[in-house]
Amino acid sequence: MSHATSQTGPLRHFLQFRDLTTDEINYIFARTQLIKNKFKRYEAHHTLHDRNLAMVFEKASTRTRVSFEAGMYQLGGSVINLTTKDSQLGRAEPIEDTARVISRMVDLVMIRTFEQTRLERFAAHSRVPVINGLTNEFHPCQILADIFTFIEHVGSIKGKTVAWIGDANNMAYTWLQAAEMLGFCLHVSAPKGYELEAQRIGTQPANVLKQFSNPLDACRGAHLVTTDVWTSMGFETENEDRRRAFANWCVDAGMMAAADPSAIFMHCLPAHRGEEVTGDVIDGPQSVVWDEAENRLHVQKALMEFLLLGQINS
Ligand code: CP
Repeated sequence: MSHATSQTGPLRHFLQFRDLTTDEINYIFARTQLIKNKFKRYEAHHTLHDRNLAMVFEKASTRTRVSFEAGMYQLGGSVINLTTKDSQLGRAEPIEDTARVISRMVDLVMIRTFEQTRLERFAAHSRVPVINGLTNEFHPCQILADIFTFIEHVGSIKGKTVAWIGDANNMAYTWLQAAEMLGFCLHVSAPKGYELEAQRIGTQPANVLKQFSNPLDACRGAHLVTTDVWTSMGFETENEDRRRAFANWCVDAGMMAAADPSAIFMHCLPAHRGEEVTGDVIDGPQSVVWDEAENRLHVQKALMEFLLLGQINS
């Protein structure tokens, strides 16, 4: 019997942040802390011994690739890496057929792709858990890492304010799901034409979402200021228009000064210093971007373990 048919319990995917319950997210954060502590002590933690992760990259990656691959090996498992270019996906094999085949051979799949619907089609035909490693619509693993990082540096995020400055992209929509579930307020400031889409966000109470035309106003009183590149992967043809539109959406010392005195700065990376953030902010004392990047490793180990084993104590 292949591992792919031996899983107990209902099949769970992590395609967007709200695929987990609030209790499950809090469990994953607690588990992340345990796993991270053991990692720092060089203690083995082989809960996924002999399990196999397939990673499918249809877009470029540094952090997601390394954190999932290193993480699975550290859990005692192994990894297969596929890209569009070096697989039959690049020769138009249907995503459904790819899912049927891969999920008979491995225990877990992580995909980075374009449309969320493409990820959903894969998951609908998979026998094993599927993880969103970034789509045009959501980046839930990154927000797990970001909130874990916030908890490490500041404490509980409940009741706090997060300022999202710049493109209302996959990160912003995932932050919004997290705000709804974990009880914090998301301030969003994006240039005209690049704001959150009304039909995607529905009606949100003011203690969950506030939108600002002026990015400085969005930063006022925030406990976390965060941003992303002006042009996300897949939107490169809009580069020149975006450079003009986003010129005032650069997180700088003035914005950080408007935030709470204890505020921290995050960026999911890669960053373009001098565009969405100044060098003195991202390389300054309020920035926690390197901890944030490292925490991708630890939260994803906890996530993979949870999707395959459920809540465990070992
Ligand atoms: N933040 C993030 O997802 O980084 P990569 O694109 O390098 O994976």
